[in-house]
Amino acid sequence: MHVVVSAGGTQEPIDPVRIITNRSSGKQGYAIAEAARDRGARVTLVTAPTALTDPDLIEVVKVGSARDMLASIESTLRAGADALVMAAAVADWEPASAARQKVKKVDGQDRTTLELTKTPDILATVRELPGVKVGFAAETEDLLGNAKEKLSRKGLDLIVANDVSATDAGFNVDNNRVVILDRDGAQDELPLMSKRDVADRILDRVRRIVDARH
Ligand code: PMT
Repeated sequence: MHVVVSAGGTQEPIDPVRIITNRSSGKQGYAIAEAARDRGARVTLVTAPTALTDPDLIEVVKVGSARDMLASIESTLRAGADALVMAAAVADWEPASAARQKVKKVDGQDRTTLELTKTPDILATVRELPGVKVGFAAETEDLLGNAKEKLSRKGLDLIVANDVSATDAGFNVDNNRVVILDRDGAQDELPLMSKRDVADRILDRVRRIVDARH
């Protein structure tokens, strides 16, 4: 089985020294990649910059922006994969144009504006390519409502609803508390557990869907 996992927060350049990014540490995505490897899968980890060490026996593809991540995931899926798990926190917006030179302060200027355009939606772009598709929904309100909407809009098999307003779960901690939802409306509400245990629960569900399709 070939599993593709994304991790980390994408970085959208404003100029050569500044970026737009988010608080993702990559821990959840790396835990999924390692759990899949330990089950015997071939794993491709497409990761935005993190402080984590490259895991052994995993093909690690390092990317920067949402567009870079899309290009890498799309080409990997086109070459053939059984599942994609999108744990990466992908920027929804990027600067309309990145400045070639460092943007300078101007004397007397107290405000500035930055024009942003939508990034491509990676999951929506690859929805017709073969493979089980798993998304995450990082939410601070209406966790299940927003997760269900993303499950359907992005054409996913599963979505992992992640309440990121908690301090003991979500971004940049070792544990997570999630609800796994499927297309049939089933909801598996999991207690606080390690990101590795969350990874195993997700992969159990992926395995069942892959087996059912063969
Ligand atoms: O990295 P950690 O510190 O361990 O934190 C883990 C996490 C909180 C980042 C992770 O558990 C998580 O919730 N990841 C998803 C973050 C996110 O971008 O959620 P979203 O609700 O904005 O996006 C929904 C889904 O669409 C996600 O699977 C995302 O990868 C994907 N997406 C988003 C935007 C985009 N342009 N293309 C996408 O494919």
